[in-house]
Amino acid sequence: MKRIEFYRHSLTDADAREVMDVIRSLFLTTGDRTKRFEEGFAAYTGAAHAVGVMSCTHALELSLRCFGIGSGDEVITTPMSFIATANAIEAVGATPIFVDVEPSTGNIDATRIEAAITPHTKAILPVHLYGQMCDMKALRAIADRHHLRVIEDAAHCVEGLRDGIRPGALGDTACFSFYATKNLTCGEGGAIVCNDPGVRDWFVKARQHGMSKQAADRYVKRYEHYDMEFFGMKTNMSNLQAALLIHQINGLDERLSLRERIARRYDEGFAQNSMIQTPSVLSESRHARHLYTIWVAPEKRDATLGAIQDAGIGVAVNFRPIHLMKYYRDKYGFRRGMFPNAEFIGDATITLPLYPLLREDEIEAVIRTLKRLVTA
Ligand SMILES: Cc1ncc(COP(=O)(O)O)c(C=O)c1O
Repeated sequence: MKRIEFYRHSLTDADAREVMDVIRSLFLTTGDRTKRFEEGFAAYTGAAHAVGVMSCTHALELSLRCFGIGSGDEVITTPMSFIATANAIEAVGATPIFVDVEPSTGNIDATRIEAAITPHTKAILPVHLYGQMCDMKALRAIADRHHLRVIEDAAHCVEGLRDGIRPGALGDTACFSFYATKNLTCGEGGAIVCNDPGVRDWFVKARQHGMSKQAADRYVKRYEHYDMEFFGMKTNMSNLQAALLIHQINGLDERLSLRERIARRYDEGFAQNSMIQTPSVLSESRHARHLYTIWVAPEKRDATLGAIQDAGIGVAVNFRPIHLMKYYRDKYGFRRGMFPNAEFIGDATITLPLYPLLREDEIEAVIRTLKRLVTA
């Protein structure tokens, strides 16, 4: 059987032409394309401002730094995410405090958060897992009661909507990833959205060493001396990355409807198989459909994962819980049993191919293969 890739991007000739235009121009780094991307991305998400960076990991780290979060502070987050979420907290010297997830969605369980708040807590860092938003109204209300920041990890959730709220609407910032497999991609990249112009101005400096002038100011206009106002990072999005993103924004909703159709085909295909469970999708929300995951019997997961790959289908595991990674176990003494809902998902989950270019015969082959391999 021909291989069914886990992921294939949807970049087009228009994207390639935009990159060629940048290559033929003078200016490869942060400049006019970055600005166009930021304007388009802010408009799409409904946020007042977007700032392009090199990764979501850096977007999270900069957000924490922006609000002065560092050594001695605690940040409440979820163990059911990619390690980048907790690593950003580690990177600023703060302590990640994990709260278990809802068993039905895998998102952080808002009802458990208040019990984890201490005098050291400075922020909540929720993750909109797989593209389905957390209960942002509940999270914002808790944060306001306790004077905390909310930094959204929206790496999976460019298109998401819940209770009429988009990522970045209630959070102090929302952070996005344009990593190779994401719904919007330039290979590697990220963005921060926010609504406060002062915060936006801080990010523009902070992504480039805290410098008072940007590269475009220094080279396109007449040279002017710059100062370093504070200690920042080097994570500014270049014109080359932005060129790949600009046109993709226009096609996001169309591609989401294709993803939605594939997800529904999988749902129907697996509905009769009681050995395949899936996370619940809230009806009054728009799921960004970044990842389609199933849950199988934990004791059979790894064998099933291998058998699906042997059948020529690309798969992934999103995610093994962060608290059980060696670094976190060693540093904080985390053990199995501490966050059972996240652990169940980590033991049971398999991610299937989900992307607009997945063909009908491939969708059918995935369903057929899963039905054959996942049995009682
Ligand atoms: C939930 C989540 N947060 C953060 C990241 C980090 O994104 P990046 O690779 O852009 O740093 C990822 C990447 O896959 C992710 O899945």
